[in-house]
Amino acid sequence: MALNPGSDYACPRELMDPLEMASRDEISAVQLERLKKTLSNANENVDHYRKAFDAEGAHPAEVKTLEDLARFPFTAKEDLRQNYPFGMFAVPREQVLRVHASSGTTGKPTVVGYTKNDVDVWAEVVARSMRAAGARPGDMVHVAYGYGLFTGGLGAHYGAERLGCTVIPVSGGMTARQIQLIEDFKPRVIMVTPSYLLNLLDEMDRQGVDPKATSLEIGIHGAEPWTNEIRAAIEDRADMHAVDIYGLSEIIGPGVANECVETKDGLHLWEDHFYPEVVDPDTGNPVADGEVGELVFTTLSKEAMPIVRYRTRDLTRLLPGTARTMRRMQKVTGRSDDMLIIRGVNLFPTQIEELVIKTPGLSPHYQLELFKQGNLDGLKAHVEAEPGTGDAAAAGEALKQSVKELIGVTIDVDVHEPGSVARSEGKAQRIVDKR
Ligand code: DLL
Repeated sequence: MALNPGSDYACPRELMDPLEMASRDEISAVQLERLKKTLSNANENVDHYRKAFDAEGAHPAEVKTLEDLARFPFTAKEDLRQNYPFGMFAVPREQVLRVHASSGTTGKPTVVGYTKNDVDVWAEVVARSMRAAGARPGDMVHVAYGYGLFTGGLGAHYGAERLGCTVIPVSGGMTARQIQLIEDFKPRVIMVTPSYLLNLLDEMDRQGVDPKATSLEIGIHGAEPWTNEIRAAIEDRADMHAVDIYGLSEIIGPGVANECVETKDGLHLWEDHFYPEVVDPDTGNPVADGEVGELVFTTLSKEAMPIVRYRTRDLTRLLPGTARTMRRMQKVTGRSDDMLIIRGVNLFPTQIEELVIKTPGLSPHYQLELFKQGNLDGLKAHVEAEPGTGDAAAAGEALKQSVKELIGVTIDVDVHEPGSVARSEGKAQRIVDKR
């Protein structure tokens, strides 16, 4: 498919939820009303919140403005762990229609729950996200996010059904077969992590399928940080629009924010359901719109598990609305947890990603190894040569040079044979810690 401009795919006004284009005053009024309900629900029905609010002397009944939220305590992942499995639920367990859980690589997983209404709101915000990305009722949608306890697969699935699409619930894995299904079923839209999409494009090459010639026109990619350089690489290689979707299980799953295909200038936050704040990660003090800090969310309509001021650890900034009146968040390119400190220089894996993509002769697959070098931490980038690259060693040297010049740190680079850096079938593991 030739790539038509994003404006050709822009959501017509009549398909939007009217709130997507409401004035700031209207949006704030909806937010305040829902915020009061959320805070009372949390206070009355969840021990953790009652105790935490009391400790701060914060009373839901005294909330008069949105700014009053700043008097309430933060919620951290640790609070969810301590109340494992169902202690954060605000409704009797029988009213919980579904649970999801994080993978929990360290310690207990975090569990989240949804009432019937929550599942409904979730489907609605994913459908809204898909419309913003250019999907329409009647589209065939290939869902390659993992199905199961992870929110990606089922979240995308219910949203696509709500929009009125035909869903192909492939989930992650069985990469060769995914290509056959794309060839035979001819989906217009694919929902998948950006790293797994790159893996799928390589598989097409292996099978002799031209990625530009498939039926795919729109990719809705998220669940992990990815750069505009990766976007350009995908769009160029597959002749499709690559649009960013953001979310986290604690807040609802995918569909908290989404880019509009016609602007691709950051993700519009669905502010009628999720109230965003950005705070200084060290002090917790709110920063002004436009300043970078840690994203914090309060849910505005969730019943089973209202969340107050959840610290996401994702770093971004809030920007005014463009294609929608709701505010945008800048593409998340790092989590405070993922920041590496190499010889005193702070860096995020996505900064290396940008440079890998810009280095001729290297494929976009990479992994970063952290190792001990005496008392210091060292970093080695495992990258691979594009098939047919003449001088792989020179490409590796070029990457090393640009990291030194642009990030200011010396790293090791190992250039491997094409196909030998670990491939993602979901969220990519970018860092391997061998310290
Ligand atoms: O990853 C939900 C999701 C599924 C979003 C499918 C989009 C698509 P969790 O497993 O709870 O939920 O992980 C949430 O993933 O705090 C971010 O650090 C990261 N993340 C999610 N979307 C993006 C994105 C799902 N578009 C965590 N860009 C979040 C950057 C993202 N990071």
